[in-house]
Amino acid sequence: MDSIVVQGGGELNGQIPIAGAKNACLTLMPATLLSEEPLTLTNAPRLSDIKTMTALLQSLGAEVATMQDGKTLAMSCHSDINTRAEYEIVRKMRASNLVLGPLLAREGHAEVSLPGGCAIGARPMDIHTDGLGLMGAEIELRDGYLHAKAQGGRLKGAVIDFPFASVGATENIMMAATLAKGTTVINNAAREPEIVDLADCLRKMGAQIDGDGTSTITIQGVDRLNGATHPVVTDRIELGTYMLAPAFCGGEVECLGGRLDLVGAFVQKLDMAGIDVTETAKGLKVKRRTDEIKAVDITTEPFPGFPTDLQAQMMALLCTAIGTSVLEEKIFENRFMHAPELIRMGADIEVHGGNATVKGVGKLKGAPVMATDLRASISLILAGLAATGETKVSRVYHLDRGYEHVVRKLSAVGAKIERVSE
Ligand code: EPZ
Repeated sequence: MDSIVVQGGGELNGQIPIAGAKNACLTLMPATLLSEEPLTLTNAPRLSDIKTMTALLQSLGAEVATMQDGKTLAMSCHSDINTRAEYEIVRKMRASNLVLGPLLAREGHAEVSLPGGCAIGARPMDIHTDGLGLMGAEIELRDGYLHAKAQGGRLKGAVIDFPFASVGATENIMMAATLAKGTTVINNAAREPEIVDLADCLRKMGAQIDGDGTSTITIQGVDRLNGATHPVVTDRIELGTYMLAPAFCGGEVECLGGRLDLVGAFVQKLDMAGIDVTETAKGLKVKRRTDEIKAVDITTEPFPGFPTDLQAQMMALLCTAIGTSVLEEKIFENRFMHAPELIRMGADIEVHGGNATVKGVGKLKGAPVMATDLRASISLILAGLAATGETKVSRVYHLDRGYEHVVRKLSAVGAKIERVSE
């Protein structure tokens, strides 16, 4: 198992290229199931989660070829489709559940293993299955699999009111509705940029979708979809993560490909903490106003609110702030596992249920720590960049799921960081 070793101290200066969005790519890839014609994605990130989705789609009969050193995915699905998504693959990655809607839309039936919980929460699928049920799918949970069948062989349009703006459920229902008979309206839909990116791609394939990016999405079903070529949108979570690097260490970093509209609420909090963000022709330039970071309170919310996927990284920064910050995690029930690891580095954090109170301690101290989930892993690396001494982050396989070339990208701006095999 690999670890990443970081020597703390020293400013960071230079440019960091931001990759295509993992969470966009993971929903764009299953869209290939909706058409017999080729779907090509460019600007795809090179991540282990993308490899997992590739293996899943191939197990269903799709052809997926990676080209241009892994940044282009050429996919097609014209052979007989296997409509059973096996537990062996699905258990590795919750996003595997995004094949449910496309399989139902294409074949009228599907067997998809429940992904099971993960470190950050139980992550049920009730919003997905209730919505598909209103579209005429009969879904039964049996031996750990969702057995789904469209009554009459084809889904029908429906008006669906989401109890919560679920990202995955919005994506599953939107894809299923593109080939349903009639019109589907999703109320309280998720508004994340990844939803808009998926809708853009589906429209290129011939889907009729309006309202993506707002809380009400309307999809007029069509009889078939064509192929398309589509660039994956910039990863706003990787962007926000690397924007924090100069906030920890000082210096100035330009995140290439960064866009303000992807990180609005996050930038507002950076401004309150004393960090300046400037739009340039190439992306977003970030530097802290003074050596002191101010405490700020954070509440995670669905987009356009503060993203839960940047909560761990922000907590790590606030451990070094002047003052006390309160972080409220409202999206997942167990997303503070990075706190005990940061405490090992000298942080002062008290967790009570969904709230964490962080008292700034100025400098953190390097220590051996353990990555517990994807976003926690990168927060420990950021903390190590500014800590005194050496920090060794173990179990970095979590990192490989969502961040490509971390050592290369941070070394290029002056970080003292290396990956070691144990
Ligand atoms: C997506 O997960 C992202 N993953 C997550 O990113 C992200 O944290 C999350 O959206 C919120 O923004 C991908 O896009 C692949 P949800 P998803 O459905 O779709 C509950 C990362 O680090 N819920 O919006 O699973 C659920 O339990 C990952 O890249 C139900 O109760 O998120 C959770 O508490 C982590 N029933 C909340 O809603 C359902 O049917 C948010 O879930 C569905 C969800």
